[in-house]
Amino acid sequence: MAESAPDLNPLDADAVDALVERALGDIEAASTLEDLRAVRGAVLGDSAPLVTANRTIGSLAPQDRGLAGRTLGGARSRLSAALDQRHQVLASDHEAQVLVEEAVDVTVPTRRRSLGARHPIETIMEEVADFFTAMGWEIAEGPEIEHEWFNFDSLNFDIDHPARQMQDTLYVDGRSVGGRTEEDGNLVMRTHTSPVQSRAMLERGVPLYIACPGKVFRADALDSTHTPVFHQCEGLAVDRHLTMANLTGVLDAFARAMFGPGARTRLRPSFFPFTEPSAEMDLWFPQKKGGAGWIEWGGCGMVNPNVLKANGIDAEEFSGFAFGVGIERALMLRHGIADMHDIVEGDIRFSQQFGLTGRGH
Ligand code: DAH
Repeated sequence: MAESAPDLNPLDADAVDALVERALGDIEAASTLEDLRAVRGAVLGDSAPLVTANRTIGSLAPQDRGLAGRTLGGARSRLSAALDQRHQVLASDHEAQVLVEEAVDVTVPTRRRSLGARHPIETIMEEVADFFTAMGWEIAEGPEIEHEWFNFDSLNFDIDHPARQMQDTLYVDGRSVGGRTEEDGNLVMRTHTSPVQSRAMLERGVPLYIACPGKVFRADALDSTHTPVFHQCEGLAVDRHLTMANLTGVLDAFARAMFGPGARTRLRPSFFPFTEPSAEMDLWFPQKKGGAGWIEWGGCGMVNPNVLKANGIDAEEFSGFAFGVGIERALMLRHGIADMHDIVEGDIRFSQQFGLTGRGH
């Protein structure tokens, strides 16, 4: 680096040349932009010899001033050009180095957290609820621990009617649930969503159009087609002049909404205590994995007048239709899921395949 020589004589061309040569050496030797900045300060900064010498020109004899000015000016411009040139070289080296050092390897595995996924049972239940609310129906819910009266009696199950055994009921010890006593009546884990029919008739009155999606429970072992906890959606319409034609119209529209425009339903005579006549509802689903065919999807019928009466409704004036479908069944049919274990086990990779809408795209 240029030595400080405060008393450089601007008329001593050799001294100025020597200083320039030393400075050029320093400039060449600067290997980083930072070094070069320091060299620039030492060579052309306020207290650099060439600069301080320039300030002495005014005190020289007038005839010497021109020569001194040219000598110092020439030296300064040589050095300034050399500094700029070196700066360009170092700057592009620096840039190349930054590109290498700060390069990001986008293939390096990260500790990225995977996003969660909504369970397809939840999203398909929302889809069901959307279908009914779009028709102007209301959504109704009831408790999962239910009074036996709502689960059976209000729905016209006789006390010793074999239909009570149709559904393997899980009874609850009243004393262990929320401090209830046995006088509150026998409690069951609701075996179907049908008790919500009764609660809605009592609470909301008629006319009534409700869908009731929810969890239900039965004393079944988990296997590829059964689970002790599953989901249903109940539908109930009570109004003047309702007939079975209204029921089939709603079921067909529901099937098309869930399974596509080619889907439709058919009814087969059956028995439920709470409907008369009663039917099993089969679904025709052309896109079914493994080929189109009729598959049982739920039960339905015209609300038994005894049920209307038990829930305070004039059965002369009003009639109703009702249906109940299995949600797991709908999910399995629509998406070709062969094993119930996949639905209940909670492996997030299963849920992720259905995306956020549940439709799997
Ligand atoms: N509750 C019945 C079950 O769980 C399904 C059902 C059948 C519901 C007929 C209804 C109906 O509303 O009318 O098997």
